[in-house]
Amino acid sequence: MLKVGIIGVGTVGSSVVKILQNSKDLITSKVNQEIVPVLGVVKNLSKKRDIDITLSDNIDDILNNDDIDIVVELMGGVEDAYEVVKRALLKGKYVVTANKALLAYHRYDLESISNKHLGYEASVAGGIPIVKALKEGLSANNISSIKGIMNGTSNFMLTKMIKEGFKYDEILKIAQDLGYAEADPTFDVGGHDAAHKILILASIAYNIDAKPEEILIEGIENITKDEIKFAKEFGYEIKLLGICKKIGSEIDIRVHPVFISCDDMISKVNGVMNAITVKGDMVEESMYYGPGAGGDATASAVVADIIDIARGHNDSLLGYTDNKSTYTLMSSDDIHTEYYVRIHVADEIGVLNQITKIFASKNISISTFLQNSDEKTATLLFSTHKAKEKNIKSALVEIEKLSFVKEKPSMMRIEK
Ligand SMILES: NC(=O)c1ccc[n+]([C@@H]2O[C@H](COP(=O)([O-])OP(=O)(O)OC[C@H]3O[C@@H](n4cnc5c(N)ncnc54)[C@H](OP(=O)(O)O)[C@@H]3O)[C@@H](O)[C@H]2O)c1
Repeated sequence: MLKVGIIGVGTVGSSVVKILQNSKDLITSKVNQEIVPVLGVVKNLSKKRDIDITLSDNIDDILNNDDIDIVVELMGGVEDAYEVVKRALLKGKYVVTANKALLAYHRYDLESISNKHLGYEASVAGGIPIVKALKEGLSANNISSIKGIMNGTSNFMLTKMIKEGFKYDEILKIAQDLGYAEADPTFDVGGHDAAHKILILASIAYNIDAKPEEILIEGIENITKDEIKFAKEFGYEIKLLGICKKIGSEIDIRVHPVFISCDDMISKVNGVMNAITVKGDMVEESMYYGPGAGGDATASAVVADIIDIARGHNDSLLGYTDNKSTYTLMSSDDIHTEYYVRIHVADEIGVLNQITKIFASKNISISTFLQNSDEKTATLLFSTHKAKEKNIKSALVEIEKLSFVKEKPSMMRIEK
């Protein structure tokens, strides 16, 4: 019998308990031994809960219990969770976690602590077994890129904004009412949650140790009706993507909204669903689609990791024999892609000429142009051929200084 202690019995933890109890026969038939959730730890013991497991409010009751073989960390947070997982590993316990924030910061620290198996399938796109796909199924491939919709809340909001004309603030309120977005939604809409996930996947693909602060992270907060109009006019959808690409010996890792062609499979992924595409030299492109969050979908991945442990899996955290990467992180200045630029100007003669001169001086060539005007002002929407991020940014700084420019110009990247 394998005994499981669960630290954090909230949305995901409760589902883990229920799966282990309700699917006991199925699980036992797969691993030939019983897996029993023996103790849960919560913060507030007086909270009413619909689960059948002994509870404690003392983490040590699990960590110091020599009978517990597997610790499931579902309390969330970064540093406290790191201490808990570290202690569990040092005590010789197996660990399973769904905590992407913990792994975004501490995956290499945890890797070096112990050779006990640490399962984290649930940390990236809960219901999609993408960790396993990259670590195992695609392990013979040189990966050239990973990109995906890794945050259901922002995808739900973007879908509603584009397909049904909701404004950002309106749909954020609806997402909060439906329980998709937190009271403080910054993590989801600001791209941070997706950043944690793409950093984890980048480490599996390239063994690269990058932290959230080192990569470009932008959210969906600044998308307006102008971007939506431009997308419709030029055959794009708008998606918040986690992107990771191998460019020579550098790895380009970033999260931001993109215009992506309506023909691209990822552009068709709507609502709270997640999807990730991986390009490898042997398989070319493969795509993984499914629910990215929710108690049951996430717990499904947690229990799969527990089953792996029962089956004797004991591989390294990221799938490498050491943690020396042959790659370095690319500076976001060196991103090379197509761009969309929006500039609000006074509707005067010569405006376009001055703007295009600045673009030309920075080696930026314009691909398409759209103008929306009212009586006194105009919104100029450009798309460019491939250009360097630092050139676009410095062009926008110069353009902002022009007397007829009414507000800070904005830009968005076009993903091909
Ligand atoms: N929810 C999802 O769809 C989802 C998807 C993917 C990954 N995840 C990750 O899974 C983890 C858990 O998420 P969740 O949604 O289940 O969170 P949650 O509903 O807020 O549950 C957190 C649980 O941890 C307990 N807890 C928090 N701090 C604690 C402490 N210091 N000591 C003891 N117990 C503590 C809470 O106790 P009380 O019940 O007493 O408050 C609660 O039971 C997070 O890392 C999250 O990022 C969640």
